[in-house]
Amino acid sequence: MIRDQHIPIMTNEILSFINKKKNLSILDCTFGGGGHSKKFLEKGHFVTAIDQDDNSLIFAKQLKKNFPNIIFYKNNFKNIDLLDFDTKKFNFILLDLGFSSNQLDDNDIGLSFKKNSELNMNYLGGDLNAYKIINYYDMEELKRVFYVYGEINQAEKLAKYIINQRSIKKINTNFEFIEVLRESGVNFRSKKIHFATQAFQALRIESNHELENLEIFLKKVHSFFEINAYLAIISFHSLEDRIVKNYFKDNKVKKNNTFQNNKDWGYEILTKKPLTPSKLEVIENNRSRSAKLRVGRFIN
Ligand SMILES: C[S@@+](CC[C@H](N)C(=O)[O-])C[C@H]1O[C@@H](n2cnc3c(N)ncnc32)[C@H](O)[C@@H]1O
Repeated sequence: MIRDQHIPIMTNEILSFINKKKNLSILDCTFGGGGHSKKFLEKGHFVTAIDQDDNSLIFAKQLKKNFPNIIFYKNNFKNIDLLDFDTKKFNFILLDLGFSSNQLDDNDIGLSFKKNSELNMNYLGGDLNAYKIINYYDMEELKRVFYVYGEINQAEKLAKYIINQRSIKKINTNFEFIEVLRESGVNFRSKKIHFATQAFQALRIESNHELENLEIFLKKVHSFFEINAYLAIISFHSLEDRIVKNYFKDNKVKKNNTFQNNKDWGYEILTKKPLTPSKLEVIENNRSRSAKLRVGRFIN
């Protein structure tokens, strides 16, 4: 039996936006182990949940035994407009981005640089993975991945070194890749973090099309709101947070209550600065330390 190890993040902050409301229709686009969904169900709300992970389907079935008001769709949230929802409008939509602790612990996915595993990092089930990127991407593509997604200044030097090493022998595992990073001579800006963090982040973002999924979703989500609904997004790295921040800014309702860019909808931004977890939450759940929550109220 798979056990859900994932602790939901910033649940009090999320619930605070809807604490007096009843019987809401909520769309949880990143169900994971169902931590947030369970909190919504306990408050008597109705949950429509999405996740691409097979294990989430199992967790959703378990949750449904006690809370019948949940319906689960195994899919990518970028396909929100293709799903055959019972309800098409929601009062609250949540994205808790990235991967779950269960996925981090899964050696077949290999997201961790602390454990050895085959190079993969794909947790969303597409065709791409870290092995293909490292062993088959050309110089320019590798440079882009490490520069844009890893924010590694010496991305070109790293790409050249990888291409040289893989011509001698394919790079098969996480530990082999870490060895390549170590020997590359690249100066990773890593005083506080493990030196492989940025390169792993880059490969994970590329393998799962993380930023593209978010951007596609944000282009569609406005069609799914009830009046005065909320969009809440938790992100875990600056590249994601920048997309969310700009999305709210670009669609902010102006002071004279008009909308931007000929749209007939917009958001009141409820978090001028992103909310972050309390010190206590970070102590209790170290994984929450980099979380940033932004919330907007949908107006049309
Ligand atoms: C941080 S976890 C969410 C945990 C969840 N809120 C909980 O409390 O258990 C992120 C989840 O989102 C899923 N996910 C990430 N990107 C996705 C996407 N584009 N489409 C569908 N699911 C996605 C992952 O599979 C993972 O289960």
